[in-house]
Amino acid sequence: LGSVSVSSFMDLPPRPELFDFHGISMTHCFTDNWENIQNFQAKQDDILIATYPKAGTTWVSYMLDLLYFGQTFPERQISTSIYQTVPFLEINVPFMDSGVVLANKLDTSPRLIKTHFPVQFVPKSFWEQNCRVVYVARNAKDNVVSFFHFDRMNKVVFGSWYDHVNGWWKKKQTHSKVHYMFYEDLIEDAGQELDKLCHFLDMSPSVETKTWILDRAQFHNMKNNTMVNHSVVPVMDFEISHFMRKGKVGDWKNHFTVAQNEMFDEDYKMKMTDSTLQFRTEI
Ligand code: A3P
Repeated sequence: LGSVSVSSFMDLPPRPELFDFHGISMTHCFTDNWENIQNFQAKQDDILIATYPKAGTTWVSYMLDLLYFGQTFPERQISTSIYQTVPFLEINVPFMDSGVVLANKLDTSPRLIKTHFPVQFVPKSFWEQNCRVVYVARNAKDNVVSFFHFDRMNKVVFGSWYDHVNGWWKKKQTHSKVHYMFYEDLIEDAGQELDKLCHFLDMSPSVETKTWILDRAQFHNMKNNTMVNHSVVPVMDFEISHFMRKGKVGDWKNHFTVAQNEMFDEDYKMKMTDSTLQFRTEI
């Protein structure tokens, strides 16, 4: 158990079982509410934030929340957890409102809604309403390392990374309202990425507002902010690993052996043969 104290380990709920759901490995807490999720009624100005887990979902969600509501509802920033401000559509766990209930409770315009679903699982009303979608992708090596650490304290699965990033990339080719972002670009130049995001959203905040957003959304500021660092989420044991862990590009080098890296590269090449997606594993 390494550094995990026995008491905290005993307090954790049992790890959920993985099963095949329409060809995707999933856990029940993301599929049990399927009917309600699929029947979710999106509104035209809803913004869907879609990612493979551990790709920078919270970072971009928080930037969007600050962009839309940071100035108008400043109290929301200190009183409301990102779990409520940006509901996770498919989550359904005991003792908490489901993502669908939380999303339906939102009285903001736009509503910001998060999903980890592969593109084919997204409720059809989002496409019917022609909603804007912000997709964030992260290179596979850092994504898997971040996932590994998260998995030590939680369980979240949404099938293959390859299918996810490519499925959403294909969708972007036919749906003009998908904005595809990369974690590495955010790390390299968050200001530029924020500008692109504003352009996509038809927003033109002042330079001061953008500077303020970028400051609030810096790694260390988010790490110390209980509203966004997930420290209030009872199912995550920070004695094992922090949600805001390192926030770097290239941390995979501290985890992969040379042999593992070679194997990974070989497999990656095969699986990405037909893809035009380009990722950077270092910057
Ligand atoms: P690491 O585990 O590599 O540190 P998600 O929100 O999709 O679960 O992604 C979590 C990952 O994004 C974690 O990666 C976390 O540290 C990183 N992250 C969150 N906010 C960040 C920020 N402001 N700057 C850089 N990385 C951030």
